[in-house]
Amino acid sequence: MKKIAIFASGSGSNAENIVKYFQQNDKIKVHLVGSNNSEAKVLDRVSRYSIPTTIFNKENLMNGDVLAILEQKQIDFIVLAGFLLKIPKMIINKYLNKIINIHPSLLPLYGGKGMYGNYVHQKVLEEGDNETGITIHFVNEKYDDGAIIFQAKCPLEDNLTIKKIAKKVHDLEMKFYPKIIENILNESN
Ligand code: GRF
Repeated sequence: MKKIAIFASGSGSNAENIVKYFQQNDKIKVHLVGSNNSEAKVLDRVSRYSIPTTIFNKENLMNGDVLAILEQKQIDFIVLAGFLLKIPKMIINKYLNKIINIHPSLLPLYGGKGMYGNYVHQKVLEEGDNETGITIHFVNEKYDDGAIIFQAKCPLEDNLTIKKIAKKVHDLEMKFYPKIIENILNESN
């Protein structure tokens, strides 16, 4: 059994989608959902699935508390899904190539600190790009910088709104994130 922890700071639609996807899988399961935000909707969403949750702050992340929980729960793989804090070196070293993130643009375009949610789509709109998409990548010590695992694109017609761009990108996230996680875990030992 491969045990996944998902970290999320906000709405958690990706987290819930991943939880649902692996519900009937007897080799891969979401075993923990962590958040740095006790008010985050993600906690509400996953409470329906009887998955343990943990709430922590930046200090817990930096001082080893979070790593201790991951080890105690024997977590094999960490999935970031709208998680806004930087993962410290201590956790990256213990989970080398076992932490992934999804970003709502075609990295290296529009990544880095402060580039999340509609800030990303706003930029796509301002630049007049004719496509955008998602990037799933390994996590290193910089925001949105680790090796790219997968990208999917969607074309952008003229006169789109931020809301419409966000919907297109969200559809790609729902379609691909769980499958890519499954592929990685099936390929690893
Ligand atoms: C997604 O757009 C994801 O790409 C980004 O944060 C957003 C999270 O959305 N990293 P949700 O909380 O899963 O609804």
